[in-house]
Amino acid sequence: MSTYLHPLHPLTAEEILATKKIICTENNYLDNQVRFVSITLAEPEKAIVNTYKKGEQTHRKAFVVLLNSLEAKTYEILVSLTAGRILETEYIPGVQPTMTADEQIECEQAVVNSPLFKAALLRHGITQPEMVTVDIWTAGHYGAEEESTTRLARPLCFVKFDETDNPYAHPIEGIRPVVDLNTMQVLRIEEYDVTPIPQQLGNYRADRLSNFRTDIKPLDIIQPEGPSFTVDGYEVYWQKWNFYIGFTSREGLVLNKISYNDEGNVRSILYRASLSEMVVPYGDPTKTQYKKNAFDTGEYGMGQCANSLELGCDCLGYIKYFDAVLNDSKGNPFTIKNAICMHEEDYGILWKHTDRRTGQPEVRRSRRLVVSSVSTVENYEYGFFWYLYQDGNIQFEIKLTGILSLGALEANIKPKYGNLIAPQLYAPNHQHFFNMRLDFDIDGEQNSVYELNVVQEEDELNPYFNAFYAQSTLLSPELAAQRKLNIDTARTWKIVNPNVKNVMGEPVGYKLMPGDNCVAFANEKTSWYRRAGFVKNHLWVTPFNPAEMYGAGNYPNQHKGGDGLEKWTKANRNTQNTDIVVWYTMGHTHIPRMEDYPVMPTAYIGFLLKPNGFFSQNPANDVPPSEKKEATKTSCCK
Ligand code: NI
Repeated sequence: MSTYLHPLHPLTAEEILATKKIICTENNYLDNQVRFVSITLAEPEKAIVNTYKKGEQTHRKAFVVLLNSLEAKTYEILVSLTAGRILETEYIPGVQPTMTADEQIECEQAVVNSPLFKAALLRHGITQPEMVTVDIWTAGHYGAEEESTTRLARPLCFVKFDETDNPYAHPIEGIRPVVDLNTMQVLRIEEYDVTPIPQQLGNYRADRLSNFRTDIKPLDIIQPEGPSFTVDGYEVYWQKWNFYIGFTSREGLVLNKISYNDEGNVRSILYRASLSEMVVPYGDPTKTQYKKNAFDTGEYGMGQCANSLELGCDCLGYIKYFDAVLNDSKGNPFTIKNAICMHEEDYGILWKHTDRRTGQPEVRRSRRLVVSSVSTVENYEYGFFWYLYQDGNIQFEIKLTGILSLGALEANIKPKYGNLIAPQLYAPNHQHFFNMRLDFDIDGEQNSVYELNVVQEEDELNPYFNAFYAQSTLLSPELAAQRKLNIDTARTWKIVNPNVKNVMGEPVGYKLMPGDNCVAFANEKTSWYRRAGFVKNHLWVTPFNPAEMYGAGNYPNQHKGGDGLEKWTKANRNTQNTDIVVWYTMGHTHIPRMEDYPVMPTAYIGFLLKPNGFFSQNPANDVPPSEKKEATKTSCCK
């Protein structure tokens, strides 16, 4: 095995297999006794990564979450791949780790084959259980004893009318099996009312549609000299940017060590940027619907749900793909071929000015580098897109698409907590909250965060009543750094290095510019709200701690709540001029429309990181003008 990989190189297939073997040999585990929930790189300390020189040997370690399903116990195991042995084993009592992809498949089979379930289906008029699809949904924590003692799933069920039919068009309302995932036994079928199955088809597959529009001409992106980036393993160089791609089964796409070459000076901006947690709470109190609240990252594993883009990628131009190597629950490696896509895009005008007197226009086209991956979590798709721009901007955007989670209604009922989208088929109101972990290292590790509020000047200092200014407030310690957005003050946050000054003598910094956002509309007494403490604020700042990675804690699955950011920040630690982590929560409120069906057109949510006193002037001033090309002479107007 090579010990000369970059310290942040994700575990290779050989390393994953070696980790499994070390653990099974040292513990004498039998094959069916344990599930390997995740085998991921134990990332070395920052100091090691930051001083690493190419070709050096580093100590490779794997971090394993292991579920002993026979004993219903969870362990965290640290393995040295370099030494070929276990370094630490810790039993974590009272937790349920992320569901594995294998459990999802086995759970569906267990339900479909269950005599209890077949009997219940008959009551709903379904005589062909083989046409039923069972989407595993986590059980949450509503105060029942079993939620603390048993590894549960509470799936949602749908029925297909034929092999290629869209099952989500036909929800079986009023039926929720409860499954013990350790024994794979259906414990019971929770049954409420019997509602007729919506009959209208909701198909979207190309092979089931006809009458495609015929007025689209080809649009090709040609890069005759290839792309402007270079790649070395998972490391990327693009113009002045440099970063290292990571991928984990829980977070999916991770960007590491983002830096910008500022006139020969390589300047660090972000050490690590990742999706820390997600929650999708539903706002419908009906019995089948109210327990729906998926923590897609900690409960399902965003990386483990990633698509292989080998078969279909929506990107144009020269594409560079990266594979993701993860583990199945037996501990064997599996590769998601082309899980990550990278390409360049033209992004319109970068900057422009026309001197009216000389008539001379100066215009530069903007080019951005796109790094993305897409995950399918049962009915829904999330696309994760990082964009790097020539002017120092870093943008993150999530694309929400896929199929709504639907319910069935009796005829002539108009739902209050959702919208009808087809006859007797409705989509409950819901929200999608994303918590991002942004480990800034702006020109080094010692950073601080300021809040900027734009305020009107007081009358006695404001003779013309026109004056306003940006008020800057230091956010430290932690409890003072729990902040909500405020449209009345155009609130933004600025991350600075107080020890590095720009040419004007001010600390260098980057501004976090929020995009679409909202607050949670559920009452805070509801179960999911206690478990998803990260939604209580849009911004949190913590001192860097490598053990604090996930906004709702390490094990949100069936957790009763109060873990993660809420718990850690009670210590009220210093966040000034120290190595800090910024956590940004953004929410998308989804009041569904008919146009979101059968597959939802993409909705977008994200944020922008904008240099603010980081550079001495527009860093994209040196982008050369584009070659002038004659306009295409095809007539478009008759
Ligand atoms: Ni939605």
